[in-house]
Amino acid sequence: MLSVRDLDAGYGRARVLSGIGLEVEPGTLVCVMGRNGVGKTTLLDTVMGVLPATAGSVVFDGRDVTRLAPHERVRLGMGYVSQGHATFPQLSVLGNLQVALEAAGGPKEALEEALEVFPRLKPLLKRHAGFLSGGQQQQLAIARALVARPRMLILDEPTEGVQPSIVIEIEEAIERLHASGLAVLLVEQYVDLALRLADRFLILDAGRVVRAGPVAELRDEEVRSLLAV
Ligand SMILES: Nc1ncnc2c1ncn2[C@@H]1O[C@H](COP(=O)(O)OP(=O)(O)OP(=O)(O)O)[C@@H](O)[C@H]1O
Ligand SMILES: [Mg+2]
Repeated sequence: MLSVRDLDAGYGRARVLSGIGLEVEPGTLVCVMGRNGVGKTTLLDTVMGVLPATAGSVVFDGRDVTRLAPHERVRLGMGYVSQGHATFPQLSVLGNLQVALEAAGGPKEALEEALEVFPRLKPLLKRHAGFLSGGQQQQLAIARALVARPRMLILDEPTEGVQPSIVIEIEEAIERLHASGLAVLLVEQYVDLALRLADRFLILDAGRVVRAGPVAELRDEEVRSLLAV
């Protein structure tokens, strides 16, 4: 479904990613792990086209999207929830979802479906997004991406700044979305959570893939040594 080959990217002359290869098969959940600053966000931004690839290719559903703008990738079925909060703080919860619906050009039912994934947002529809808790904002950010009915969801640290009780809700929502057939590419700070959800993993170090495979093959001591700060 997503096939990334020999991908390089960076900022100005500073190269961050070198020769990244990554496959996400339909319906699978792949987690990208690595210490702070290894290039996880840079990788997701490059996959979505927020940052241009300086070499290599990104193919989605058999189509080369390497040169497409982010909104064009969204139209093709790639959903992105970037790190931090990608919501409009001055708009209401409903306003945020409506903007996403208009951008996607989808049917109104898509908005209801997204709210079914996060029912906790329903009583908050009129509230300004800026007044939501960290967990509610993350839920809204994911709901916004779902309004476009993506076939693949790319999530960058969806539990960052979220209180523990809501972390569980977000984990369960990702699990349900995955179970319903959505492909997911996940960067997640809680390693245990990531490995519970994922089918496959990828570990980055200094902008390169140092290890990848099925989660079942990953040993605890390996995780600790590769991710130790
Ligand atoms: N806008 C930018 N301009 C210049 N350098 C940047 C920019 N964003 C990130 N970098 C650098 O690129 C490297 C990779 O950063 P990136 O944000 O991709 O890491 P990360 O793995 O997502 O880290 P974290 O776990 O903290 O989210 C770091 O050295 C960072 O300082
Ligand atoms: Mg990051």
